[in-house]
Amino acid sequence: MKNISAISRRRFLRGGFLAAFGAALLRPQAIHAASCCGLKADHSANAQLLFESLQYPYDLAPLPHGTEAFVPDIDALTMEIHHGRHHAAYVRNLNSALAEYPQFHGLKLNALLADLDALPESIRQTVRDNGGGHANHALYWATMKPGGSQPSESLKAAIAKYFGAMDALEESLVQVGLRRFGSGWAWLNINANGELVVNSTANQDNPIMFGETPLLGIDVWEHAYYLNFKNRRGDYLKAFLKHVDWEAVSKRFAILG
Ligand SMILES: [Fe+2]
Repeated sequence: MKNISAISRRRFLRGGFLAAFGAALLRPQAIHAASCCGLKADHSANAQLLFESLQYPYDLAPLPHGTEAFVPDIDALTMEIHHGRHHAAYVRNLNSALAEYPQFHGLKLNALLADLDALPESIRQTVRDNGGGHANHALYWATMKPGGSQPSESLKAAIAKYFGAMDALEESLVQVGLRRFGSGWAWLNINANGELVVNSTANQDNPIMFGETPLLGIDVWEHAYYLNFKNRRGDYLKAFLKHVDWEAVSKRFAILG
């Protein structure tokens, strides 16, 4: 995988464009809430779909389906701790890191992540870890739906083109998730050539740091599955894939592809 310093200028500019495009899709009250008066940001479907529109001060959106919607595959306590402790900590740490740097408050989260080198060295790693953590989890919750849903015809065609079939894509996601040593994520991304690819990142790195655009991210940190699955990460990955909101992924594909 490319180094952070290899991010292309074109990709960064695209990140800024996508951020602006994402914000434009939000309802007027969402834009207001995200930019004014310390009010909670809007958490409508569009806002959750596009983590790229998030901006300082960041906050923790409620879980779209609550903590018990994925039982028995993902237990309620895991959901509660994952969202209320882990994700909440990323949001808190991100806000804390940026608090003294108002020059970055006007940038969308994806623009920050696409150009980490622009940040002061003193907060760069903290923003990488916690900004990535916030973006990754915002996408994770927004692309989960109890029982899953079906991809659009255009996404189906792209999956057929690049993977042969949905089964092959899912197996690829399982394998890349299993191969990730330690903590990280398995991804379905659009690469710099506009192709669908399956990839993996370490820790809380987001594909946008490496010039790819994430459509779907699967958390393979132990905190996502250990209570229920113990060390059986592959079983967790297969269980998670039953609950992918491919309709939401298709909307991202339609906008970002
Ligand atoms: Fe997580």
